[in-house]
Amino acid sequence: MKTAVFSTKPYDREFLEQANESAGLELTFFEARLGPNTVKLAEGFESVCVFVNDQLDASVLIGLKKAGVKHIALRCAGFNNVDMASAEELGLTVTRVPAYSPYAVAEHAVALMLSLNRKIYWAHSRVRDGNYSLDGLLGFDLHGKTIGIVGTGKIGQCLAEALHGFGCKLLGVDRYENERCKEIGMEYVPFEEMLSQSDIISLHCPLMSETHHLINNEAVARMKRGVMLINTSRGGLIDTKAVIDGLKSGKIGYMGLDVYEEEEGLFFEDKTFEMRLDDVFARLTTFPNVLITGHQAYFTREALTRIAETTLANLTAFVAGGELTNRITAA
Ligand code: NAI
Repeated sequence: MKTAVFSTKPYDREFLEQANESAGLELTFFEARLGPNTVKLAEGFESVCVFVNDQLDASVLIGLKKAGVKHIALRCAGFNNVDMASAEELGLTVTRVPAYSPYAVAEHAVALMLSLNRKIYWAHSRVRDGNYSLDGLLGFDLHGKTIGIVGTGKIGQCLAEALHGFGCKLLGVDRYENERCKEIGMEYVPFEEMLSQSDIISLHCPLMSETHHLINNEAVARMKRGVMLINTSRGGLIDTKAVIDGLKSGKIGYMGLDVYEEEEGLFFEDKTFEMRLDDVFARLTTFPNVLITGHQAYFTREALTRIAETTLANLTAFVAGGELTNRITAA
């Protein structure tokens, strides 16, 4: 079966080709992101393999259907970029990689927390410049602090376990209570209570219409002064303008982001000489207490291996007409 792989970076190709040594599928790699202008590239392919910033809205899905595509294999967990209702209407099968390394993302969230708190990024450049002064580098003990975790699924649980090791108090927000999280002392509270009690808030729920701009002006107003906000989930969970106001007023004391609501076409690309950065993102980068990484939380050797293996297993199962355990459908 012929598969068009979109948004391919050299590392994607390396891991997918390695996994394909045993699967033996016909993979064609495109650097382009899938969207209205590139959907024609899918002509003659039965499957497409896509990532987080490929755009699969109704018009692109119609284009895929016309091109002869039957199966969309997401090589990620989140599927907020796919219009699932349209996919179902068009009879397109969608599969994903539900879990590849929750540790990778949880560990990156901890890395953001520690770097922001102890200002590792400033300290490193100071020492390189020969400045050994400690002024402005004062941090706080993580031990004993209250951490609010929104979404206590696979990644939220890993984060809770790591922070339990630091001696933190854990507050959870989720409609389903996670037994392992409760075992290590997590207390489930309403969202509003978590906002007002947490020293650090970390987001780990999916982006859906009900979670879009979960962190808005009202939520920021309820937070403790000086709170640290971490988002390694999806950019759309945060209303960026609201958190910029929160940073300006000092309500938000630190912010660590691995995702941004307008990251499509920005993250994963080298924009060193690009002068047309969006103004909101440009403003974010001016705050000394904001640390941004470009959607790299998942980016570990173990995760890429698992993503490639599961994606190829999904593609193979589709061809074989077997059971598709990683199939997703419109809710
Ligand atoms: P999961 O499905 O195991 O857990 C998500 C949890 O969020 C579930 O327990 C669910 O009940 C909960 N949830 C749903 N709606 C909620 C709401 N309104 N309020 C609070 N909780 C809610 O998913 P997993 O694997 O833990 O991934 C979480 C998210 O992390 C993904 O949806 C994805 O967007 C993001 N992600 C980011 C990556 C990165 O590289 N930055 C990599 C992988 C995932």
